Amino acid sequence: MSSGELYDTIGATYTVTRRTEPRIAARIWAALGDGRTVLNVGAGTGSYEPSGRYVTAVEPSALMRAQRPAGAALCVAADAGSLPFEDQSFDAAMAVATVHHWPDPIAGLREMRRVARRVVVFTHDTSDAGWRRRFWLTRDYLPEVADLIVGRPSVTELARAIGARIEPVLIPWDCADGFFEAYWRRPEAYLEENVRRGISVWARVGPDAEQRAVRSLRADLVSGRWAERNRDLVDLDAAELGLRLLIG
Ligand SMILES: C[S@@+](CC[C@H](N)C(=O)[O-])C[C@H]1O[C@@H](n2cnc3c(N)ncnc32)[C@H](O)[C@@H]1O
Repeated sequence: MSSGELYDTIGATYTVTRRTEPRIAARIWAALGDGRTVLNVGAGTGSYEPSGRYVTAVEPSALMRAQRPAGAALCVAADAGSLPFEDQSFDAAMAVATVHHWPDPIAGLREMRRVARRVVVFTHDTSDAGWRRRFWLTRDYLPEVADLIVGRPSVTELARAIGARIEPVLIPWDCADGFFEAYWRRPEAYLEENVRRGISVWARVGPDAEQRAVRSLRADLVSGRWAERNRDLVDLDAAELGLRLLIG
């Protein structure tokens, strides 16, 4: 199944929990510079698309395209690996929470580099040995996530493909966009079916791992074990869980 097809299967309830997080959007929009024309690759339902600029979106999943709000930017059905645009036809190109789905991320990033003068990518760093241990959900409940990144390029390789610098992005405790790491201080959220359906990781690890992780987390929340193990998180307003902005 291609990644566009994956979202044709799992994307039906995306907008229930996935939306623009304003503090992360501010970082992305600042990184785009003052360019007037912006390409959004892997655009989904349109989160993080800046207003006041001429935005063109690229999104392979028909189900995701269908959920774009009325008045959203023009959206082209295409794949990051083969962008149907002339060289240097945009001031800037952005890709948010999508590169990890592309069959060949380096090829897709080179395409973004080809069509735009500036490239901004919001993704996560899975390259260092401590990555799995950074987040309690993967460390204590869902180690299967490690299998999903085998053979994928590191964040350093992604950055090199577009000549980008790498900036850390901390996740606010009340992050509005319900991506995988968003509920790091709100563990009960992962017990909710709606929350999990907005996060592709749960579909990709499969129902057995999902149900085991949820059962185990629920038990630890009831017994107080989660609170005991993660007491250092309670006073944090933002967490460093490996999210990165690549700006090139
Ligand atoms: C987690 S969603 C992110 C959507 C949006 N950027 C956002 O921040 O809400 C990932 C998106 O990447 C798209 N996608 C998957 N494979 C792709 C590819 N090869 N090229 C472009 N987009 C792809 C999916 O269809 C999906 O809409």
